[in-house]
Amino acid sequence: MTRDDIRPGEVVADVQPKQDAHVRFIGKIHTPFFTRGECPRQGTQDGPECILELDEEWVPALKGVEAYDQLEVLYWLDQAARDFLLQTPKGKGKPYGTFALRSPNRPNPIGTSIVRLERISGRKVHVRGLDCIDGTPLLDIKPYRGESLPKIPHLDFGT
Ligand SMILES: C[S@@+](CC[C@H](N)C(=O)[O-])C[C@H]1O[C@@H](n2cnc3c(N)ncnc32)[C@H](O)[C@@H]1O
Repeated sequence: MTRDDIRPGEVVADVQPKQDAHVRFIGKIHTPFFTRGECPRQGTQDGPECILELDEEWVPALKGVEAYDQLEVLYWLDQAARDFLLQTPKGKGKPYGTFALRSPNRPNPIGTSIVRLERISGRKVHVRGLDCIDGTPLLDIKPYRGESLPKIPHLDFGT
């Protein structure tokens, strides 16, 4: 089959379908970006407000999240190709190995971003700092402790 997503010098693997683990989507992400081309390459915390919309059953798992200024968000880049070995990023003249890049095209297309928490309203977590298409499946939310400490020290935030 002819593909139009392969640039000169890029190499894809001959991978067979295989399932090692089951990933559970916990909701979806709403952003003002509707195509890959509209997304920033990496989100920034002064970017537009986006919403992590959790499926109803996961709302109790938000307890304590409001204590954090920043969160780590994991999402499933569902429009990515999963067989690239070598990729030539736009503007770079030569191919790099997939694991040397943060390209969405990777064997397990998991995106991560450190976002700024704006507010939580029911099952909607409002954040800034995302770079994905509207409707991208949400995988997980973790407190980001790199630069901020919880404001509620009596809670047990063990890892
Ligand atoms: C370079 S990746 C970085 C993702 C994440 N910040 C990371 O570093 O793991 C972001 C790019 O992925 C692409 N993208 C966004 N949403 C996507 C989706 N749902 N499926 C495939 N590609 C997507 C867009 O081109 C966007 O600019």
